[in-house]
Amino acid sequence: MARVLVIGGGIAGLWAAVKATDAGHTVDLVTKAELAEGNTRYAQGGIAAALFPDDSAERHFADTIEAGAGLADPAAVRVLVEEGPDRVRDLIRFGVAFDRGESGLERGLEAAHSRARVLHAGGDATGAAIEHALVATVRRRAVAIDEQTMLVDLVLEGGRVVGARLLGASGTLVERRADAVVLATGGSGYLFRHTTNPAVATGDGVAAAWRAGARVADLEFTQFHPTALAAPGTPLISEAVRGEGAVLRDASGHRFMLDVDPRGELAPRDVVARAVWRRSLEQGGAPVLLDATALGGAELVRRFPGLDAVVRAAGFDWASEPFPVTPAAHYAMGGVATDLDGRTSLPGLYAVGEVARTGVHGANRLASNSLLEAAVFAERAVRAITAWESSSTRDAGAHAHAYAAAGVSARPSDVVRGAPVDRDELRALMWRHVGLERDEAGLAEASARLDAWRAPEPSNRRDAEDRNLLDLARLTVAAARARRTSCGAHYRTDDPDVVAQLPVPLEREAA
Ligand code: SIN
Repeated sequence: MARVLVIGGGIAGLWAAVKATDAGHTVDLVTKAELAEGNTRYAQGGIAAALFPDDSAERHFADTIEAGAGLADPAAVRVLVEEGPDRVRDLIRFGVAFDRGESGLERGLEAAHSRARVLHAGGDATGAAIEHALVATVRRRAVAIDEQTMLVDLVLEGGRVVGARLLGASGTLVERRADAVVLATGGSGYLFRHTTNPAVATGDGVAAAWRAGARVADLEFTQFHPTALAAPGTPLISEAVRGEGAVLRDASGHRFMLDVDPRGELAPRDVVARAVWRRSLEQGGAPVLLDATALGGAELVRRFPGLDAVVRAAGFDWASEPFPVTPAAHYAMGGVATDLDGRTSLPGLYAVGEVARTGVHGANRLASNSLLEAAVFAERAVRAITAWESSSTRDAGAHAHAYAAAGVSARPSDVVRGAPVDRDELRALMWRHVGLERDEAGLAEASARLDAWRAPEPSNRRDAEDRNLLDLARLTVAAARARRTSCGAHYRTDDPDVVAQLPVPLEREAA
């Protein structure tokens, strides 16, 4: 059987490791921090799947396509919604105890879903419950696990990925060989000054894959979550809170979302995030407020125990008063381009989870589709590895499929000139010019600033991350400049269709 190197310890990596071991492969699993750290464990809302009698894969398909603003790949979405329910049943078998009420599994409603179909666990601790169950499952398998071990670069031979260079806990650079490398390194929210992501989300997999020559796509599509707590660390306030009835108010107490979209607080995430951003600008930068008081203190604690602690720790009694929220970078729709089986454009390299651009999300991901995507496509990638391994030819041509996704290019970070990249400045720059609203002047300024920096040698974790952040920032800006019109989460205020609709922010009026 094959030697499989899985890089990443979130749902996608754990799933791939478990299933590859069960298929008889020899599996090495490496993760940058401890096994459980990563975006998965912070996922609150849940996992969406058409499991209930009033729902269907067809409805889930239609909702996902609509949220994707015309850019989701229907074939990939079809796979997601049809195979999703079986993957959720697998999760239950792995030991995830989704919340239950008197009539069976409880389900929540989230933005742009036409049915309540979001399963949750521990109220608002769905990701943590999934991570816990999968970590326990992987530890029962004969998987060699290396924590505190970071991907630096992929190793290529004859155009095939044959392993990876890794930075171990001791700071030593080692090369690990494999027949198949599965990237499951997660997202890149840390590119932006304000994010719901943990600090490990530095886009390591996308950057390394791009340096190795893999196709990457859709990097202009960063999802900004509308409701992070406006407090240090901008912790996520799950969309499920709005799904249960919380509403957004401006500084005067007005429920402004209904002026923007008839779906109100449950309009697609990009619509709500921009409306929150705009309204905050219009009121001179003061954050808008999330009003969850109608839910009542007891229900808030029952349904959202984790959030109750977070909001109260920040000094807000959300049972009796609205509290301030702000948009924050949340999810990367783009990434390493894959086919429907997780294959990238490089033989030997697979990508699953947030690092991958499967085409499922298009320009704006439907809430709670990400955990599902990770499970569905990790399962398929392992099947593809197994099929490749058992084929008589082990044909590299198996990877020679067409990519609908356009590639992007940018200046590589290893050009040795300029000042060393400043991580904090880079994150502030991305927030300022490549955030919820973009225009050519801002993107050009960001591009020039990024080009003036050079990446450090990746000889320790921080420097390796900084190199990745710089590569990914350049790629993201290049992609955002290339797409001149607004679509989904990529919103250009210099797009003529948009200019006519924009209200004038107060500070511009005053100028
Ligand atoms: C949330 O709970 O609002 C986040 C869920 C998601 O990003 O899908």
